[in-house]
Amino acid sequence: MEINYPTKLWIGSDSLQRLAELKNERIFVVTDQAMKNLPSFEKVVSMIDSTNDYEIFSEVTPDPPISVLIAGIDAMKTLKPSMILAIGGGSVIDAAKGMNYFGAQTGVTENVTFIAVPTTSGTGSEVTNFSVITDETKGQKYPLVTDEIQPDEAILATDILLSIPPHITADTGMDVLTHVIESYVSTKYNDFSDALCEKVVKLVFTYLPICFENGNNYQAREKMHNASTMAGMAFNTTSLGLNHGLAHSLGGRFHIAHGRLNAILLPKVILYNAGMLSGQEINEDIAYRYSKLASAITKESYNPRMGTKKLVRLIEQLNRKLKIPSRLTDTGLPKEEYLNSENEVAIAALKDGCTATNPVVPTTNDIKQILKEVI
Ligand SMILES: NC(=O)c1ccc[n+]([C@@H]2O[C@H](COP(=O)([O-])OP(=O)(O)OC[C@H]3O[C@@H](n4cnc5c(N)ncnc54)[C@H](O)[C@@H]3O)[C@@H](O)[C@H]2O)c1
Ligand SMILES: [Zn+2]
Repeated sequence: MEINYPTKLWIGSDSLQRLAELKNERIFVVTDQAMKNLPSFEKVVSMIDSTNDYEIFSEVTPDPPISVLIAGIDAMKTLKPSMILAIGGGSVIDAAKGMNYFGAQTGVTENVTFIAVPTTSGTGSEVTNFSVITDETKGQKYPLVTDEIQPDEAILATDILLSIPPHITADTGMDVLTHVIESYVSTKYNDFSDALCEKVVKLVFTYLPICFENGNNYQAREKMHNASTMAGMAFNTTSLGLNHGLAHSLGGRFHIAHGRLNAILLPKVILYNAGMLSGQEINEDIAYRYSKLASAITKESYNPRMGTKKLVRLIEQLNRKLKIPSRLTDTGLPKEEYLNSENEVAIAALKDGCTATNPVVPTTNDIKQILKEVI
């Protein structure tokens, strides 16, 4: 197994100064419409020195579709960028990674330096070789996984996070938690990812409620941002699991926020993996891993069954605190439409690249059973 953390991180209150060091570059700035109108976006762009040429592409939409990548690659043709600067959440960073990758494949770009400035504390995309792209004609999300899209540098600037509204803070924060819980029981878990995951669960349970209650709390925002990047570093070595397979399948079809889907699915996927959903036999090894995470949060020790139950209860309590409902239909999933496509949803989740490292190999019926619990 190879472990590689190649993205250079710039952290701390002066991290945006890194952009002021860039000279004589042709910078293709990628963002979305909402971000472009925020003072935090202006704050980042204002750091770019006047010796550089830059052009802003702000057409990225959530769950970025292939058409956005094509538009971005087209827009790069005149500037012929030497650098891509992605300023935004996971959708923006993933879209920019896709533009970089397919731009190189089609000869539009060459040897481009990729810098990510994440503006949500959620996906960890700034340090991963993952990009999740949606095929809008099939209603399916596909994780593109290749070292060629690993960002060269990531700038973790806390002051641009203070504008994130509470519901996006909640959804993206629960994505961080899902990343580490899936990484911790992935078939590829290792001592390095374990250390990151054990730290991140503590950070999320301590600081996410504070960020949700008071978005201007600088220290809590900084801690959640670190947690998000550390989670990305963990799952870049282990990949994820069924929770993400399901979130991709449902997200590509119904366009519900990625983190919110993860948050609602998480308690049931944990119980399923541990063999503790109705009618299953306990899987002691997996339940043991979950109980270690519960212990990392509460500093108490548990047997595998009690620890797994505790972890699930803690997540359900956190969801309630963050005003995340426990059912998908309460967050916009159209029930009839879902029931008509239940089989396709289950099959797409099974085929998703993230499901491959789930500790249990699920069947279509298992997936339907999990979904029945949260519809
Ligand atoms: N590449 C990976 O490793 C990885 C991992 C998990 C998820 N993803 C993907 O990332 C996408 C989700 O990314 P996300 O959860 O960051 O959400 P997002 O990028 O879709 O952003 C959600 C909303 O938040 C707004 N926003 C972003 N930053 C803001 C700020 N500072 N202030 C105010 N508003 C702000 C955006 O404009 C947008 O409207 C999904 O497509 C998901 O599949 C990728
Ligand atoms: Zn995720």
